[in-house]
This record gives sequence, C-alpha cells and structure tokens, in this order.
Amino acid sequence: MIPSHEVWHLLTWLSGRPRAWWMSRGLDRGEPEAVAVLWPEGAKALETLVARRSAGVPLAHLLGEWSFYGRRFFVNRHTLIPRADSEPMVEAVLSEFPPPRRPRQPLRVLDLGTGTGCLLLSVLADCPTEVAGIGVDQSRAALAVARANGVGLGIGQERLQWLWGSWLEDAVWHRLSGLAPFDVVLCNPPYLAGDDPHLAQGDLLSEPRAALAGLIDSADGLHDVRVVLQRLPSILAPGAAVFLEHGWTQREAVLEIAAQAGFQDRQGGSDLEGRPRWVRLAGVECRVAGS
Ligand SMILES: C[S@@+](CC[C@H](N)C(=O)[O-])C[C@H]1O[C@@H](n2cnc3c(N)ncnc32)[C@H](O)[C@@H]1O
Repeated sequence: MIPSHEVWHLLTWLSGRPRAWWMSRGLDRGEPEAVAVLWPEGAKALETLVARRSAGVPLAHLLGEWSFYGRRFFVNRHTLIPRADSEPMVEAVLSEFPPPRRPRQPLRVLDLGTGTGCLLLSVLADCPTEVAGIGVDQSRAALAVARANGVGLGIGQERLQWLWGSWLEDAVWHRLSGLAPFDVVLCNPPYLAGDDPHLAQGDLLSEPRAALAGLIDSADGLHDVRVVLQRLPSILAPGAAVFLEHGWTQREAVLEIAAQAGFQDRQGGSDLEGRPRWVRLAGVECRVAGS
C-alpha cells in the first residue's frame, strides 16, 4: 500500500478538488473504497492509479508533472524528476540578480544537463527579459519536455535556446563557444557511481540512467563533473559564476576538481536538509577567444 498523503495527492489531482473539499463532505481517508461512496465514477480511476503507484510507478509519472520552486513542470520517463533539494541552488542563483534583478547588460545563463529545464526556467521566470538562457542535454526527448515547459511558463522563445548534444563530445563545446561567453552556469550533472545501490531503488528505477549515472559509468560518479569543470573556463565571461550540484559525500572531491580546473573562489551550499549539495565556483581565468 502507498502512503496516505500520496493517495490524497492522486485523488485531489484526479478530481480537481482540494483535500478540504473532500473532508468537508465527511471523507477522512482518500482510499478508493471510501471515495466510491461520494464519487463512484472516479473511484475506479483512482484505484488504477493507486495500483500503478503500488507497483512502483513514480507519482510524478502518474501525474505527468511535478512541482519545483513553486511552478509545475511536465515530466516523463525521459527526464529526471525535479528534486526539491535543488531549490536552494536556484535561490542562490537568483540572489546573484537581486531585485529588481535588472542587469546592466544582457546576461547569458547556461544550463548543462537541463532535463525538464526546471533549473534554467525557474531562474528565467524570475528574471527580467535581459536574462536569456541556453539548456543543453544529450537526450532529445528531455529537450522536448524542457521546450514544452518553457512554453507552458510563458517564457519568450527569444530568451531560450535548446541545444542537443553530449558534453563528452568536442562538438558541443564547439557550438557553445560560438554562443559564449556565459555569465552564469547551472549544472546538475549525473553524479552516482555506476554501482550505486540507489540506482535499483524507488523512483530511480524509472528515471533515465544517463541522468543519474551518466553516459559512462565511473567508480566515484564524478566523471561528468571532471569533464564539465575542465572545459567550462573556455566559455565563461569575466566574473562568471558556476553553480554545480553534487552528492552529499562528494563536496571535498568536487572542490578539488574545481581547484585543479582553476576556480579560485569556491563556496559550498546546502540542500533543504542542510547537507552539502552544491558549490558556487568563480574566479577562473577566462579563456574565451577575444575576452
Ligand atoms: C541529474 S539530471 C538533471 C536534470 C535537471 N537539470 C534537474 O536538475 O532536474 C542530469 C541531466 O544531464 C543529462 N546528461 C547526462 N549526461 C550528459 C552528457 N554527457 N551531455 C549532456 N547532457 C547529459 C541527462 O540527460 C539529464 O537530463
């Protein structure tokens, strides 16, 4: 059986009525048999959803959407399900553009491994039109979802660009250098080791392996972090900041990789539970041609 809060989540989504509406009519449990008394025609659909959830289908996949930083994002089996633990990093990015968030000149934000686009779109939605963004992903199917989310959030197409390709290939860096320099970089890369037991547990079983462990397995999960941090200085603007998420045991290793890549300023940030989960990196010598 699934937890009662998930049953309520499914019932309120299916019916379009809040929990208070049901409770005010005497429903104290959201289970299908209790719902059948008040809403016989909906109870069968609820029963099906509860059965699929009990079989391990992520709640986000049943709903086709998930909440992140106060907005709803379409999700499917080609995207990572946005995690609330990534929200503090978005908050930190936005604090780079304090209200009224008016940059003196147009700024470019790059999101490497954009998935649903939740990081990039959350930033752009709260910034003025002078801030534009580019989301990169190796999955065309994920980029289709990110594009749909951009449209759904009403972010003008002139502010958004989506680029398909792998950062393990030179071609992507070549394309990005044509779009550089970037002022802010967001990256929630895959960072699980290839043999991490979490890959075989819970919702992770239904998420793309490339989103969790990358296209190439690595023993410490940090292969993508190494590649990205080594290559980033070639496309950064002077004064640029990089925000990179990592696993909660990886802080020291990530800081070491960042130092080797030439980032002089290295600060750490936490997730919602206070665990070390992301870094802000700056102070690197920019190697963009002409800068
Ligand atoms: C951990 S998910 C992050 C998704 C989203 N940014 C978020 O925070 O929910 C990592 C993303 O990186 C993409 N990815 C993995 N390896 C990649 C590569 N070599 N090049 C480009 N994108 C890659 C995956 O397809 C996935 O969408």
